[in-house]
Amino acid sequence: MIEAASIERLRTQFLDELERARSERDVQTVRDHYLGRKQGALAALLKEIGRAPADQRPVLGRLANELKTDFEAHLAARHAAVHVSRPPAHAVDVTLEGRLPALGHRHPLTVLRDRMEEIFARMGFEILEGPEAEDEYHNFEALQMHAEHPARDMQDTLYLGRPIRGTVSRRGAPETGGSGTEAPAASRPATLLRTHTSAMQIRYMEEHPPPVRIIVMGRVYRRDNLDLTHTPMFQQVEGLLVGEGISMADLKGTLVHFLREMFDATTAVRFRPSFFPYTEPSAEVDIACVFCGGDGCAVCKRTGWLEILGSGMVHPAVLEAVDYDSERYTGFAFGMGIERVAQLKYRVDDMRLFYENDLRFLEQFPY
Ligand code: DAH
Repeated sequence: MIEAASIERLRTQFLDELERARSERDVQTVRDHYLGRKQGALAALLKEIGRAPADQRPVLGRLANELKTDFEAHLAARHAAVHVSRPPAHAVDVTLEGRLPALGHRHPLTVLRDRMEEIFARMGFEILEGPEAEDEYHNFEALQMHAEHPARDMQDTLYLGRPIRGTVSRRGAPETGGSGTEAPAASRPATLLRTHTSAMQIRYMEEHPPPVRIIVMGRVYRRDNLDLTHTPMFQQVEGLLVGEGISMADLKGTLVHFLREMFDATTAVRFRPSFFPYTEPSAEVDIACVFCGGDGCAVCKRTGWLEILGSGMVHPAVLEAVDYDSERYTGFAFGMGIERVAQLKYRVDDMRLFYENDLRFLEQFPY
């Protein structure tokens, strides 16, 4: 027999069950259980009320209706509660540890170049760059590398071509020599990608009277095939110092100081007679092998020494080419490859690694 008390029992049961609901799904289960159209507890209750004595039905019916409204309100509230208590998938979890953003850093060759600049700047050198596209005069001629010099060969140098001035030439048609006032193609100066930063010695001295104390940093290009010690583009440091009374002793002091700052305060340095067309005398400079400490190994071919740079006293003909008085002024010059220094300093056996941009390699260097 249905009565008001059983309606209250159903309410208590419902509230208990709802309180245990932890998720939207649990709330839906409770809703199905109590408000389901066919199997729901409320539907069953209404059926029973239908069978109750006629005089009780209106009261019981009103109570049942209130119960339904109540259920709806509680279900909605619980749904909202479990809904907000579970963060959606894209929410920020503020309890997680922070992630470090990947910061970039300077390339090891840039770091080394900056370090070299710093050492030379402290010795009073001015740091310069210069054009990468050069002419034959500055790259070769003025440095006493005349037409027949082997380094000027097409096999060693990347030529950009001969400038075409005032020539109307159809594409694909062979050059005819032009309008008559123009020089024949072969006698016009060729442009090229500079093969060494030594070209800037001439450019600088053309525009500045002595004394000179400069360092030139920059990219140079050669027709080399890639291998362990060659890349067709690499970087050089050029040094030039000209003044009165400059001697080989100044050259030696400067370079030994530089190399000991760059490598180790006790690095052994030796000067070996050599030849460059633009210096006289010329010397190549070696440091004690960084792999075996000078005992002799496969890398230094058992000599205990590794070549690091070229140098010499500026040839009087070079000074005269820029209208310097070679009786009054003397100077020294030197040049070295930054990659070569990096290879020796960091003991990297393959120069190509510096240009392949593999982070596993690049991240091993101080920056
Ligand atoms: N230019 C030379 C090279 O590219 C390096 C060099 C040697 C530069 C002797 C100089 C020097 O200034 O005096 O290999």
